[in-house]
Amino acid sequence: MTTSETTPGSAPNRQVEVEEDVLRRVLDSFSGCTDPRLREIMEGVVRHLHSFIREVRLSEDEWKYAIDFLTAVGHITDDTRQEFILLSDTLGVSMQTIAVNNEAYRNATEATVFGPFFVDDAPEVPLGGDIAAGAVGEPAWVEGTVTDTDGRPVPGARIEVWECDEDGMYDVQYGDGRTAGRACLYSDEDGAFRFWGLTPVPYPIPYDGPVGKMLSAVGRSPVRAAHLHFMVTAPGLRTLVTHIFVEGDPQLEIGDSVFGVKDSLIKPFRKQSPETPTPDGRRLDGQEWSRARFDIVLAPEEIT
Ligand code: BEZ
Ligand code: FE
Repeated sequence: MTTSETTPGSAPNRQVEVEEDVLRRVLDSFSGCTDPRLREIMEGVVRHLHSFIREVRLSEDEWKYAIDFLTAVGHITDDTRQEFILLSDTLGVSMQTIAVNNEAYRNATEATVFGPFFVDDAPEVPLGGDIAAGAVGEPAWVEGTVTDTDGRPVPGARIEVWECDEDGMYDVQYGDGRTAGRACLYSDEDGAFRFWGLTPVPYPIPYDGPVGKMLSAVGRSPVRAAHLHFMVTAPGLRTLVTHIFVEGDPQLEIGDSVFGVKDSLIKPFRKQSPETPTPDGRRLDGQEWSRARFDIVLAPEEIT
C-alpha cells in the first residue's frame, strides 16, 4: 500500500498510523494510574477528543479559537457567574449526565437541569407562604403532594423552590443581595405542600458572555421555556432536582435552550380571574392569578 491510499477517515494510511501512534502514546501514559475509575475517565476523554479532532480534521486555527473560547469561559466565571455550567447546559451535557444518573424508575418524577441560580439556605416559609418575597409577577398558587413510588405520603420532605420574576431575573441577578422568588418548605404529615409563587415566564439564560456568542454564531436562542425549579430531599429517597413547565407556553414549541423539557413535567397553570376566591382567602387587589398542581413521586435512594 502506498501513502497516497486513503482510509474512511480520509487520511492516507501512513497518516493514520501517525495519528494512532499519538493516541496510543497518550493512552499508555495512564498505565501508572492506580485509581481505576480515574484511568477509565482519562482514557475515555482522550479517546473521544482525539477521535473528534480526527473526524472533523480540526485546523490549528480552529484549535486556537477553541482555546481562546475556553479561556474566555474561564475569565467570566466567578462565584456568581458559572459560564462552564452554561456551556455544559447549552451543549446538552448537563441533561445527558442527568439521563445517565437518574434512570427512570417506575412512576418516579423525572429530573431535569439544576441551573446556576440555586442558593443554599433559602429562607423557610410555612405551608401556604409566599416565596415571591417582593419578586414581581402574576401570583401562582402551587400545591401537591410528595409520595414514594408505592404512593405512601412522605411527611417532612424538604422542598426547595426558586424562580425568576416577570422580567426573567433571579434575585441573585439583582445585585443588591435581596432574597426573592426562592424559599424552602416542608411537606405536612400527609405529604402535602402548598405555597404562593409567581406564574413562570420564559427568560434568556445569561448571553452576554462566550456562551451567548456561541449560541448566536450557530443561530440558537438563549431563551428557556417558562419553569419553576424544585429540589426535593427526604431520608432514604433519591434527591429530585426538577422543574415544572407551563402548559401552553409558546417557548415549549420553539425549544428550551438547555434541553430541559420533559413532557411529564409540563403542568397547567390555570388562569384565575381576580374575582375567583383564592384557596387561602388571600386578597389579590384585582390581580389575575393562576393555580398549578405538582404531585411529586420520589424514587428510593438505592434501586436494586
Ligand atoms: C435555569 O433554569 O435557571 C438555568 C438553567 C440552565 C442555564 C441557565 C439557567
Ligand atoms: Fe431557571
